[in-house]
Amino acid sequence: MNNTISDIKITKCQSSKINEVDFENLVFGNIFTDHMLLCDYKDGVWQQPEIVPYAPFLMDPSSKVFHYGQAIFEGMKAYKDAHDDIWLFRPDQNFDRFNKSATRLAMPEVPEEVFIGGLKQLIQLEKDWVKHGNGSALYIRPFMIATGHGVIAAPSTEYRFMIILSPAKSYYSGEVKVIIAEHFSRAANGGIGAAKAAGNYSGQFYPTKLANEEGFQQIIWTDDATHTKLEEAGTMNVFFRINDVLYTAPTSERILDGVTRKSVIDLAKREGIQVEVRSVLVDELVQAAKDGSLKEIFGAGTAAVINPIAGFSYKGEYFELPKMENSFAQEIKTKLTGIQTKELEDTFGWTVKV
Ligand code: COI
Repeated sequence: MNNTISDIKITKCQSSKINEVDFENLVFGNIFTDHMLLCDYKDGVWQQPEIVPYAPFLMDPSSKVFHYGQAIFEGMKAYKDAHDDIWLFRPDQNFDRFNKSATRLAMPEVPEEVFIGGLKQLIQLEKDWVKHGNGSALYIRPFMIATGHGVIAAPSTEYRFMIILSPAKSYYSGEVKVIIAEHFSRAANGGIGAAKAAGNYSGQFYPTKLANEEGFQQIIWTDDATHTKLEEAGTMNVFFRINDVLYTAPTSERILDGVTRKSVIDLAKREGIQVEVRSVLVDELVQAAKDGSLKEIFGAGTAAVINPIAGFSYKGEYFELPKMENSFAQEIKTKLTGIQTKELEDTFGWTVKV
């Protein structure tokens, strides 16, 4: 496939809905910009990408995405700096991961010209939707679905790649308390846990609904075989601060290789924080909570940014975390968002101008 940026066909909407949006009071992922990008794959090649007005579209009811969940996605953000320039954060990482997910789900890889080039062109068109300051960002949702028809259980031969954009502030509106999984699992070795596959998220909905009913917002998943190792929280990777050491689980076939996760590790190390990437045991966490050495737990993800966890429940016992004055979570969040919004120097070379 030889798409180039000039191949993108643009059809603009007649009137923008931007003036109807209350940018100060956004519910995460609820409002979308005026346009979207789409690119179809058929006859073994990617077709001409298009930017069109954001709108529903027709699909055959037998499309494989509806029956077999052949669907993947990414989560990214764009930020506007004080000079009105727009920046992406490590888009190469999302692009690479997207195509790894595609391979795992037997889907075709999306060309860089379409994913990154198309994204930049879409954001240029929607630049007024990217706001500066106060934790504002434009959340980017690239995704691919199997559009081929027929309910035979085999990979589709047709796909649609799309990008939609949503102005965003915070993902969680209040305090986040978690339950540690004792029975349900998010992923298993040999499965699709490391892919950003739609099914990894729908599989969490039921146990998370049960957790919500008990007053918890999220689950920290444990390994499926023994439920003794802490893994990730589904919408974010997790970090544990015991005394002054920051721990996080290594990536594996069960854990998403989070872009924010790896950025936090690099940033924390640069700030002189001791970071250990190793399995953290549930028993170790409970013991640390009991003896007071557990200082913080926080989640890290594109949508969630850095989100402190107020406490966790395990086997019916709730452990409240101390309120830290100088938390690692706050320190790292300040540095990370400072780099993303260009208020701090990006010595890592993570930011890419749109
Ligand atoms: C993201 O952080 O971008 C994600 O994809 C998590 C999603 C469940 C909101």
